[in-house]
Amino acid sequence: MSGLRRGKLLVFEGIDGSGTTTQIARFSERIRSQGRTVHVTREPSVAPIGALIREALGGKIELGGATHAQTMALLFAADRLDHVAREIEPRLAEGTIVLSDRYDLSSLAYQTATAAAATADGFDLTAWVRSLNRFALRPDATVVVDVDPDVAAQRRTARGAASEIYEHETLQRKLAALYRHAERLVPGDCILHVCGDAAPDEVAEAIALALTPHLDAS
Ligand code: TYD
Repeated sequence: MSGLRRGKLLVFEGIDGSGTTTQIARFSERIRSQGRTVHVTREPSVAPIGALIREALGGKIELGGATHAQTMALLFAADRLDHVAREIEPRLAEGTIVLSDRYDLSSLAYQTATAAAATADGFDLTAWVRSLNRFALRPDATVVVDVDPDVAAQRRTARGAASEIYEHETLQRKLAALYRHAERLVPGDCILHVCGDAAPDEVAEAIALALTPHLDAS
């Protein structure tokens, strides 16, 4: 039997401007300096389906018309399976800690929040998105960085990058509320809430405290 221990998949989630990208960089540096092998990745992925999604997020292409949210849910789910097969699973198998900036919790928040009209007939959109992601590997733990939507909006403005289709006030407020009860969206998953309103150093400490026990859990 090989002595190689399987790695862990740890996911960072939150609304736009919640600081997941900064925090993932901090956490990866921290555990790398402790001698661990780490791989940082993100969704949408850098592979072809992810590239197509980025075009849609930037408003360069329009997809799906009235069923835009459903089309995006399908694309994100396809990108995720490809991402797992191509990038995540091989690294876990070689014992690497994989940190992903977003995973299927984003689909369960963003695509359900943007397809509200489709649920008018009682159709359970959350269950549908969950079933699309039925074959996506479950993360070992997910950190949800909860931030006040006003704080996140200020950070997005300060960042100054071109805004993407989901970066508007009303939607971000709705998403913040969904993330606060993220465990309802992914029942059975390990969800760790961290308050992201404080300064980056303070948030980084809280994340390290929450995640460290999950690095070596069997
Ligand atoms: P983000 O993670 O903020 O990356 P960047 O810094 O490059 O803009 O952008 C990804 C966007 O995609 C974000 O608004 C959330 C959205 N998204 C979904 O709507 N569904 C998903 O399943 C995923 C993974 C992301």
